[in-house]
Amino acid sequence: MTFTIPLQRLARLACSTLLLMLVGVGLLSARPGTALAAEASPPVDSAALAKAVVAMEQLDQMRISLASTLEGRTEEPTIETMKEVCKPVGMRAIAIGKENGWQVRQVASKYRNPDHAPANAQESQVIDLFNRHPEINGLWEPATAEQGAGLHYYRRINVEPSCLACHGTRASRPAFVKENYPNDKAFDFKVGDLRGMYAVMLPEVKAAISQAME
Ligand code: HEC
Repeated sequence: MTFTIPLQRLARLACSTLLLMLVGVGLLSARPGTALAAEASPPVDSAALAKAVVAMEQLDQMRISLASTLEGRTEEPTIETMKEVCKPVGMRAIAIGKENGWQVRQVASKYRNPDHAPANAQESQVIDLFNRHPEINGLWEPATAEQGAGLHYYRRINVEPSCLACHGTRASRPAFVKENYPNDKAFDFKVGDLRGMYAVMLPEVKAAISQAME
């Protein structure tokens, strides 16, 4: 199975994401107490930033493709096929990070795997922002001091009809989910809800920005 998206569509996505990112950065930093590097001129290493945007679009497409293979099945999916949706996406996220020298994680306030709980105030704020602004697809935020020099790219994850097989009502979750995730919070979603976000940390870009501004 391949997850290639036509280039033209990617370019469109990248453009609209860039526009929305600017909006998003403005909104988050308008909040009192948030670090204010947001007015910074466009980040220097735009190739790496564009690559991160494209990589997250592809990762999202991978999950949507995998989930859609479960739709419309006549036979009951086996435990093995059921497992082949979000776990591989999580593994691919980590691999993308390794390949590029980034850190890539999935984050959700209603999480299934506790590793995906928001890890800091910035992640919680961005999730909250995505919740309040469904029109924002992605945004950039400079890393906070304790996160080290770098830039974060956040990309929203929405609930599609195919997700409800495992993220619908509590009772309708597959048995392997109920057994393996005793503290699961990732159910009772509706189509169009915010499910979570991808969080990419690109190290050192912030340092490059401030150098360029000196
Ligand atoms: C076959 C069942 C299944 C389907 C269908 C499914 N998921 Fe998941 N989802 C899971 C499981 C299991 C996990 C926990 C994986 C892990 O341990 O990393 C998970 C985790 C996630 C996470 C990571 C955050 C967390 O809660 O741990 C996101 C985001 C997510 N799913 C989104 C989606 C979206 C969006 C769709 C539809 C396009 C979808 N899922 C469809 C079973 C499923």
